[in-house]
Amino acid sequence: CGIVGYIGFREAYPIVIKGLKRLEYRGYDSAGVMLCDGNELKIAKTKGKVSDLEEKSKAIASSKASIGMGHTRWATHGVPNDINSHPHVSNSGNIVIIHNGIIENYEPLKKELLKRGYTFTSDTDTEVLVNLIEDVKKKEKIKLGKAVQIALNQVVGAYAICVFDKENPDEIIVARLGSPIAIGVGEDEFFIASDASPFIEYTSNAIYLEDEEMAIVRLHKPLKIRKIKDDSLVDPYIQELQMNLEQIEKGGYDHFMLKEIYEQPNVIKDTYRGRLLANQGIIQMAGVEDNLEKFLHADRILIVACGTSWHAGLVAEYVIEEFARIPVEVEYASEFRYRNPIINKNDVVIAISQSGETADTLAAIKLAKEKGAFVFGVCNVVGSSISRETNAGAYTHAGPEIGVASTKAFTTQITVLTMIALRLAKAKGTLSNSDFHRYLQELEVIPEKVAEALTSTNEKAKEIATKFKAATNCLYLGRGYNFPVALEGALKLKEISYIHAEGYPAAEMKHGPIALIDEQMPVIVIAPKQGHYDKVVSNIQEIKSRSGKIIAIVTKGDTQVKGLADHVIEIPETSDALSPLITTIPLQLLSYHIAVMRGCNVDQPRNLAKSVTVE
Ligand code: G6P
Repeated sequence: CGIVGYIGFREAYPIVIKGLKRLEYRGYDSAGVMLCDGNELKIAKTKGKVSDLEEKSKAIASSKASIGMGHTRWATHGVPNDINSHPHVSNSGNIVIIHNGIIENYEPLKKELLKRGYTFTSDTDTEVLVNLIEDVKKKEKIKLGKAVQIALNQVVGAYAICVFDKENPDEIIVARLGSPIAIGVGEDEFFIASDASPFIEYTSNAIYLEDEEMAIVRLHKPLKIRKIKDDSLVDPYIQELQMNLEQIEKGGYDHFMLKEIYEQPNVIKDTYRGRLLANQGIIQMAGVEDNLEKFLHADRILIVACGTSWHAGLVAEYVIEEFARIPVEVEYASEFRYRNPIINKNDVVIAISQSGETADTLAAIKLAKEKGAFVFGVCNVVGSSISRETNAGAYTHAGPEIGVASTKAFTTQITVLTMIALRLAKAKGTLSNSDFHRYLQELEVIPEKVAEALTSTNEKAKEIATKFKAATNCLYLGRGYNFPVALEGALKLKEISYIHAEGYPAAEMKHGPIALIDEQMPVIVIAPKQGHYDKVVSNIQEIKSRSGKIIAIVTKGDTQVKGLADHVIEIPETSDALSPLITTIPLQLLSYHIAVMRGCNVDQPRNLAKSVTVE
């Protein structure tokens, strides 16, 4: 979900609405806004998108109110409808809240409040929280900030909240546990948001609240931050933001996803800049250098992640084992955290996350740390929760990724993880000198090959998309390094086009999915020249003899597969280990074009959210 708040001298409505649009990628099944105009609360909320909210809030749009808050929701408790949308108001009509996260013990709290005469109109845990705050405030006859604090100490769960009280309209209380929240500090004004994108054009000074901290944001007063548990004061740490407006706008592309696909040559370069010096045979990352001994003495490396980041982890498993000969295991963070995993002191855990906020990954990190492991983060968002929670790490430098379906985050994650593998290989001597240098040089020219793949495959991907846009099922096959790419290709297609797709190791096809193959079934086979080419060719023959429609990703100049496949997409040649960085490109484009042709909302696919801060 996304939160935006404003308190200052400007009109709040346009700031809040524009901010919500920037944050819409975080959740978009409903949206709402609150303004406080004089002593009057104006609230509009609706199921649907921020554009629906704009329609619904026309009556209040011209308000001169200079205090306001807004929310985009990704439903956890209660279906997306107008009533369950935020903001939620307490029974007295005075206290207003917007909330990201989950209050896990809301049922007993609700029961207690019902006994005390409170009534509820929605199914949400949030409405329970706002009434709990009201109840505490009334009972104890205290200020809002204190009441929020006491209430939060009774709550189990995760939250980022903004709370406003009509009785004291110069103040917004902000608090966080598990869900990110940033406060933009201007002159005589404050902005509150889930990330800095809503306020980047107004101020580049931001404070990121830490878990279990709350801020009392007041007009014309210095900002106060307190620890929710023990009430101690915290010195606000103001950070200078690096982000710029251009990075979070579409820049002429129809969709963020397409823009981000096309940014890959540049961002891969940004990711290795200063770290990879191919001519000098140097590969270095501060986080790895500082902890080299830990990596080298690791009995094994455990990788935890979710979604696309998990797929990058699978690629890393192949690359690290091959180059550095260290055993690697890759786990879904959500499984890892709940199965009492065996973690030893000599294990190195690598957590991969674009957003750096994924709740399950964060919990997995905490668990690994408790068990004594050294945890290394591969994150894209600077200053994110995961980047702070890990012992060390390397950023991916992909820049803000707004499209919900991850693209450039994936390839930059693979870039970082490949660099780690190469660095460790060098230290361990597990790669020959000549191979090491060859890989460094190859990695350096990967951005050019990605650029070439973008140019040479886009039209073909579009053409194939026209043929298969009506498919109901799709199979993606790959072997070795390209098995995870098959998984990622399938994930991209299902995420944005709602076509059921499965990724499989090509050889494993005969143990199940082959039963699905008929003349209706498109099968996308990743078959670059390097790697297990001959084996994949046999797999293609198996599909052909069952009349499946074959779309093959092949190395430029390939003739053998061309003779067998219905469609081929040619990509530039690379060595097997680096090929995922190239084979991924046409798969991203194919999913993109199919989704566009099906009329799907590419940047905000239904039911998904970019940053999943609930478990
Ligand atoms: C969500 C997003 C995916 C992403 C996954 C993990 O499901 O929609 O695109 O891969 O979360 O996110 P992270 O930020 O941890 O990489």
